[in-house]
Amino acid sequence: PRRVLSGIQPTSDSFHLGNYLGAVRQWVALQDDFDEAFYFIPDMHAITMPQDPAQLRERTLRSVAQLLALGVDPERSTIYVQSHIPEIAQLTWVLQCLTGFGEASRMTQFKDKSSKGGLESASVGLFTYPILQAADIVAFDVDEVPVGEDQRQHLELTRDLAQRFNSRYGETFVVPKARIVSEYAKIYDLQNPTAKMSKSADSDAGLINLLDDPKRSAKKIRSAVTDSGSEIRFDREEKPGVSNLLTIQAALTGRSVDELVEGYVGKQYGHLKVDTADALTEFVTPLRGRVEELLDDRAVLHEVLAAGAAKARTTAAKTLAEVYEKIGFQPAT
Ligand code: TYM
Repeated sequence: PRRVLSGIQPTSDSFHLGNYLGAVRQWVALQDDFDEAFYFIPDMHAITMPQDPAQLRERTLRSVAQLLALGVDPERSTIYVQSHIPEIAQLTWVLQCLTGFGEASRMTQFKDKSSKGGLESASVGLFTYPILQAADIVAFDVDEVPVGEDQRQHLELTRDLAQRFNSRYGETFVVPKARIVSEYAKIYDLQNPTAKMSKSADSDAGLINLLDDPKRSAKKIRSAVTDSGSEIRFDREEKPGVSNLLTIQAALTGRSVDELVEGYVGKQYGHLKVDTADALTEFVTPLRGRVEELLDDRAVLHEVLAAGAAKARTTAAKTLAEVYEKIGFQPAT
């Protein structure tokens, strides 16, 4: 079967607009294009940075509620929590033993995330994070992985490790491809439109959380940094702020950037901001309601996760058994 898989970390109370436009929106669309879809919450990745336990537990369920509210359908997709599939951690060990130390050292996310606290305090888990991600993917014989631009290097490593295993031990893993939609692969910070929108930015003034009060988010959009000049056109180099707002509005309204730009001839940045803020408000208002409803009946969320874990484990266990056999582990029975 042709399979698609992706994950989103439970490290915040709300997904942000970059998560949605860069990733989850594609997940929803791809449910119909592939035979099987696997979407999961990587809680094991989350603990590569310090997390409050009660908050992590809650955010994991909130993440599931958001996926469902955004249109990931448990009838068509397997939805699960990473730590419910112990085979992923077992497979990670095997892949770690195939990864060069130098190769792992070249992963840029580790350099970025460890730069704040320094190497002494960064965890080894943060260092091996991309290998866990590779295991997430190869465990399920996945063809495509829909992600934003910041995951490209992790997908390259995944491909390298899958190929390396295959050439050393014989055809075992499907070698997966990143599926990155260039227009939406990087949504930018509203205050700093050459940096990606991220929950770990120094200030949250440029971050749109889907579950925030829409009034607050609309205000952030109206205060977005725009560019010199006054013409509204799409130009990432000269007009990064304007281009970001055009991208966001186009995605949320289903209209093309070209069509939007035509409508703004002779108008000012203020018009673009107000319209983009309105489009966001229209999108998030019903979404917040649906998430609240889902969180009011947690039994349903737990059922979705139990069914997802059962299905995902069957697949991952098959892969792991094949891997253990190929590398020469003595069977337990
Ligand atoms: P995470 O949780 O940081 O982000 C989830 C998804 O959102 C995308 N994204 C963005 N896209 C466009 N513009 C932005 N500003 C933006 N910010 C985030 C990310 O690219 C990602 O697709 N390591 C992954 C989680 C993961 C995973 C996996 C993904 C673990 N295992 C296996 C795919 C397959 C991460 O931290 O994503």
